[in-house]
Amino acid sequence: MAIKRKGPKGYPLIGSLPKFISSDRMDWLQSISNTYGDVVEFKLFKKNFYLINHPDLVKDILTRDIDNYTKKSISFKFIKEVLGESTFTAMGDDWRRKRLIVQPSFRNAKISNLATIMTDCIEEFLTEWETQCDGGKSIELNDAMMYLTLRIVVKALFSSTLSDADMTDITEAFKPLLEAANTRISLPIKMLYRLPLNKNKKYQGYIETLNGIIYRIIKDRRLADNKPEDLLQMLMDATDEDTGLPLTDIELRDEVMTMFIAGHETTASAMSWLWAILSTNSNIREKIEQEVDEVLGERVPDASDFAKLPYCLKVFKEIMRLYPPVPIIPRQVEKDTMLGDYPIKGGSGIFLSPHLLHRHPEFWHVPEVFDPNRFDKAEERKQHTYAYLPFGGGVRVCIGNNFALMEAVFIIAMTTQRFRVNLPSDTNFEPSVGLTTKPKFALNAVLQRRHARGN
Ligand code: HEM
Repeated sequence: MAIKRKGPKGYPLIGSLPKFISSDRMDWLQSISNTYGDVVEFKLFKKNFYLINHPDLVKDILTRDIDNYTKKSISFKFIKEVLGESTFTAMGDDWRRKRLIVQPSFRNAKISNLATIMTDCIEEFLTEWETQCDGGKSIELNDAMMYLTLRIVVKALFSSTLSDADMTDITEAFKPLLEAANTRISLPIKMLYRLPLNKNKKYQGYIETLNGIIYRIIKDRRLADNKPEDLLQMLMDATDEDTGLPLTDIELRDEVMTMFIAGHETTASAMSWLWAILSTNSNIREKIEQEVDEVLGERVPDASDFAKLPYCLKVFKEIMRLYPPVPIIPRQVEKDTMLGDYPIKGGSGIFLSPHLLHRHPEFWHVPEVFDPNRFDKAEERKQHTYAYLPFGGGVRVCIGNNFALMEAVFIIAMTTQRFRVNLPSDTNFEPSVGLTTKPKFALNAVLQRRHARGN
């Protein structure tokens, strides 16, 4: 029998908008889920939305009839202004074709080829940290991790063909571009961004700077005799199985821009939380140190070491449980449908929330407790697959998940070889859960040397 949905009434005309855009949004979503159950209906202006908070129903949305749960929401329209029609934003047959072309570049074997690019970037970055540490400087962790993960993804794509000047231009364009994109997605009122204001012109300017660099590198690569083994080359060599056609320059640009964006802020925010949590958990930090010292000593890891650092991986997975970099996954329902026993109206928006699912008391024992052992192989097998979704799920699961896990484990291991990252005891760890789960306040860390390489 169909179950009638329930939810908060909200205000006339605007519905629950003030709650939804407030900084306490996640607490509010948690409270309506506690009050009304696993399917909650509410309005934002005139539009109907559902919050879905049960792994069985989430599985249904992400795996069954995916063309009925699309990415046609207003926030994706803004995302498309930057990413174009890429694997992340495309839908239907266009998405299927792109995913099939791009996916092989992210298989484990291919990612392993990128391990040296990752470890080179991390080495270079940690050498800079050594200088700053010896000069007694504190390090703002979120900025530092953003800088590092952007360098890694850009180098993984362009390897040695990227000049230092290009890297500087990319780094400088990204911070304001991401901030402006986040504002647009959080406050999706088109008119505001069409006004001839300086900041709207600058936004276009950042996109054009990045486009200029990406198209130039693609053009140079087509003409080059010696092609490096980087992600760009894998994408350029990949072809559609049916037509044999490769991606066009515009399609390549859209994929590259997507990987720049999807592939760095997410990992950076999880890494910032990781250092924050370790600085208050000496037991866990010591276990990581023990694993890293035993497996690597002072040598640089290679791809085969990833599997030998399971504790580092478990800690990272647990970080993404409590601080999922993508706390909310939106969808649009195209036509009336049944979700389990619930009738769902076409034209409505849907929110799935890794943040809430990762704390669902039916699926996690004492969910607020940080415990990496939840990700022991045997424990992991007992989990409901759709109760843990840091990378989304179903056919549109994150394409870069293996890349991100290897990158994170290498950052944890190589940093641990050289440093302990300490945060002052009065640090405010409060999260800001918007588009990503970021620390609300600066995390100014003091680095303590463990071993210096070569000593
Ligand atoms: C910790 C790091 C990362 C997290 C938490 C993360 C999270 C996610 C999530 C939740 C989705 C699904 C979005 C949805 O269904 O609407 C997604 C999709 C995607 N991610 Fe990631 N991501 C990470 C790293 C990366 C990296 C490193 C890359 C590429 C270099 C990447 C590229 C993509 C792409 C292309 C998609 C779209 C896939 C599709 O729709 O077919 N991500 N990611």
